[in-house]
Order: sequence, then structure tokens, then C-alpha cells
Amino acid sequence: MDMKETIRDQFTRHFGNEGQMYASAGRINLIGEHTDYNGGFVFPGAIDKVIMAEIKPNGTDKVRVYSVDINEYAEFGLEEADAPSQQWARYIFGVCREIIKRGGEVKGFDAVFAGNVPLGAGLSSSAALESCFAFAFNDMFNANKIDKFELALIGQSTEHNYCGVNCGIMDQFASVFGKAGNLMRLDCRSLEHEYYPFNPEGYRLVLLDSKVKHELVDSPYNKRRASCEHVASVIGVETLRDASMDDLEKVKDQISAEDYNRAKYVIEEKQRVLDVCDALQRGDYDTVGDRMYKTHEGMSKLYEVSCVELDYLNDIAKECGVTGSRIMGGGFGGCTINLVKDDLYDKFIETAKAKFAEKYGHEPQVYDVVISDGARKID
Ligand code: GLA
Repeated sequence: MDMKETIRDQFTRHFGNEGQMYASAGRINLIGEHTDYNGGFVFPGAIDKVIMAEIKPNGTDKVRVYSVDINEYAEFGLEEADAPSQQWARYIFGVCREIIKRGGEVKGFDAVFAGNVPLGAGLSSSAALESCFAFAFNDMFNANKIDKFELALIGQSTEHNYCGVNCGIMDQFASVFGKAGNLMRLDCRSLEHEYYPFNPEGYRLVLLDSKVKHELVDSPYNKRRASCEHVASVIGVETLRDASMDDLEKVKDQISAEDYNRAKYVIEEKQRVLDVCDALQRGDYDTVGDRMYKTHEGMSKLYEVSCVELDYLNDIAKECGVTGSRIMGGGFGGCTINLVKDDLYDKFIETAKAKFAEKYGHEPQVYDVVISDGARKID
């Protein structure tokens, strides 16, 4: 049975009838990491891995939802005090609450969902889940009156207010706005965005999933964000988007060496996204690749969100002559994204699998990137 049939089958078993199906996607990001909450640029695209849900209003004020993948069931109300204990259910509860808080409508419903966005791989399975339900509630209870950006913001606020992650807007934006064959450049300060058809002739984008996730205590993601906000306030700007390296040098002795490095990475990364956009327009993939390697180095040495396994995958890519490679997403495990020439592809994958397995005891998982549509209704 494919995912859709499984969901349909489980919905009938649990609730005895049929609902409407929706899906939303995970994402990749070509370049522009940890820039979103600094008001900078990001360059993501939705992928062909999704969270899919079947949903039907049930005429009560209760939500009943079953997760196929972890085989768990949750039941909760729609008031603030009704927050469920299971983490996965809090994403759905959060989306309901954020819509209600904004004056929108959500009533009781039954739902079954499943997904093939790998968890902990940095492909934003949680944004896919939030966007799938936000899109569905807009369609089902709000006559599609909530605009698409607001749907992304609803997902982001869910992370902030119900899941403890002070994330930026990139993942939810990509999941809601994704369009097959296109990457999107988003200016996270003005929220202006542009679609970039992406079809690099002679190259492929491939992800290597290390399948390691370093669960760190004390929310390192939130700490990175706090460092950036602190440096911005010392410089006297709203976000690091408005700061230059000169500005940073001027406050160097007022901030810690660690905060200096965090801000340096962000200021440099902002420029790298713009360089990549220009290079893509010229078909200059060597420059695209060069900036990807530089991002990796910055994320590893200055922002310190890489890990030995991802650094190793990056080294292997370099040794094989891969055009561009870097850790992707929030960090602390997950995937590298690699821009590889067609004729190097087989050798690179073979070498990466063998070398990584020799050192870490398992092969990385390979995902060929297919840039796909974001949130949608399914027949
Ligand atoms: C996570 C967050 C995003 C973004 C990336 C890093 O995926 O959810 O908002 O900050 O990390 O670029």
C-alpha cells in the first residue's frame, strides 16, 4: 500500500468514514543558513517528501488524531489548557491555537496522518506537518481567507509557542510556497520572494543523510539566535541584516569571542546567498559550489553547528572533486547537500558510502533532490 492508501485505510478503521486529503512538503536549502531569524536571505525549495493527512470535521469540540508512523493516538480539546502531552500532537494543537488566536476558526475534527520526510535529517518534517494542517484548516474552516504568508507564520508561531524552538520563517515558508522545479529566494526582512527555476544542466543535487542527530541539551539553536540578537543590539541595529563587517569590528571588544564568530558567520553568509543568486543567473556553478563550501566552513568553525560526521562527509565531497557541499539546515547532525556533476555522481556516492561506513559503522542515506510543490489539497 502506498502512503495515501494506508492513510485512507487507517482513517476508515479509526473513524468509519472518509475525509479530505492534504499534503505539505519538507524542504532543502541551497544556501543561506541561520540567516532567516537575522533578517537575511534564504534560498530554499520544497521537495518530493511530504506529510500527508486525511481530515474530517466531527461536529464536536474535540480533536481525535492518529499518527500512522509512530502508531499513536491523541485526543484533545481546542482551549489553551487542552495541550496534549505527546510532542507530535503539540504541532497540530499549536496550529489550531495559532489560527484561533488570530481570530480564525478551527472546530473539532478527526485526522490520520503519515509522512516520508525523514525525521532529524534537517529536512523540516515539523514544518511540513504544521503547513499541512494550517493549509487544511484554512481550506476546511476558513474558506481560504488566511493568506499564504500568514499560514507560514502560523507554523512558525507554533514552534515558538508550543514546541520551544525560536526558529525563523524559512522552513514553513518553503513548505507552504514550494513550487515544482523552482527554488525561492526570500528576503526575510521585507518578506519579498522570487521563484528561481532550478535545472542545473549537467549537475545533480543530492543529499547525504549521516543519520546522526546530536540531541544537545540547553537548546543550542535558541542560543545561536540569542547571540545574534545580542550582537545586533550592541551594534545598534534591529537585526544583523543591517550590520557590516566594519560595524562588527567596531564592537569587537564589547562582545565575547564566541558572539563575534557567530555574527561574522551571519554577515558573511548574507553575502554568499546574493553571490549564489548572481552566479546561478550566469550558469556559473563553480561559484555556487565555492560558496557552499565556504558556508560549510563557517557553520563548522564560526557558528559551530556542524559535527564530526558532517565534516567528514564534506571532506569526502571535496576529495572527490564535488562542485559544492555543505551541512544543511539547523545543524547538529542531519544531511549535507551536494552539487555534483553528472559524470561524478556514481563515483562520489560509492566513495562516500564506503568511507563513511568504514569510519562510523553505517552508510549515509542518499536522497536525490526533486524540487516539488508545497502545501496542497489532494483528490
Ligand atoms: C532550522 C530553522 C530555520 C532556519 C534553519 C537554519 O531549520 O527552523 O528557521 O533557521 O534551521 O537556516
